[in-house]
Amino acid sequence: MKKLIIANWKMNPPTLKKAKELFSATTNYRLQAKNAEIVIVPPFIYLSELLKIKNSPKQSTLATGQIKLKIGAQNIFWATEGAYTGEISPKMLKDLYVDYAIIGHSERRKYAAETDEMINKKVIAALKESLKVILCVGEPLEIRKKGKKAAMDFVKNQLQKDLKGLKGKLLSNKLIIAYEPIWAIGTGISATPETALETIKYIKKLLITNYQLLTPRVLYGGSVDSKNIKGFLQHNEIDGALVGGASLNAKEFKKIVELTNKIN
Ligand code: PGA
Repeated sequence: MKKLIIANWKMNPPTLKKAKELFSATTNYRLQAKNAEIVIVPPFIYLSELLKIKNSPKQSTLATGQIKLKIGAQNIFWATEGAYTGEISPKMLKDLYVDYAIIGHSERRKYAAETDEMINKKVIAALKESLKVILCVGEPLEIRKKGKKAAMDFVKNQLQKDLKGLKGKLLSNKLIIAYEPIWAIGTGISATPETALETIKYIKKLLITNYQLLTPRVLYGGSVDSKNIKGFLQHNEIDGALVGGASLNAKEFKKIVELTNKIN
């Protein structure tokens, strides 16, 4: 299966002009190999404009080349419409032809006080609109310091709550898990490929046995860059990467995509 590389721009860049420049620089080249699928995830406010660029016939880019290019949202709300000031619904995103939604990112759990119960409602709402879900899970440093059993239990608990009531057909081909240890996000200190692999194998086992998924997809995220990407993605079990900081530098991101493309 193709490796999935997701560019999470977070609250960057600060202007539409810069967002357009970054998008064009990130996607405006051709690659011959076909081993990667790219999802660009900008702030909501840039989605329409970037989708216009992606779909413009002039754009001789990844979009029209052999690599699949998709667009995602960084968050959603669980209702379809109504009196929810400041929120964006899965239906609105679907209407724009957005394909993916990141749900439960640790920064939203921290700064927007999102609970597992809220995340569960969001996952259900996204699936209802046929958005593909990138559900983020991962343990904080104090848990990792207690050892791998504690870290795995933490992640298992998050999955139990975030995926409550969901399994089998409801999830298959629509759910992607991003294992993102919180201590590795934006710190420049990634997990080792061994730690990522071990945890991802565990998550996959849970998805198969408890959620009846036949071919679960699980990514790694946390300080991924062009220097360490190969160490993660050379393992068959690691299906791709969620890239934050490094996706804001078009050259660096291009390197990540090219390296991914070379992995078989
Ligand atoms: P980072 O962010 O690559 O900057 O560590 C990853 C993420 O939060 O998705």
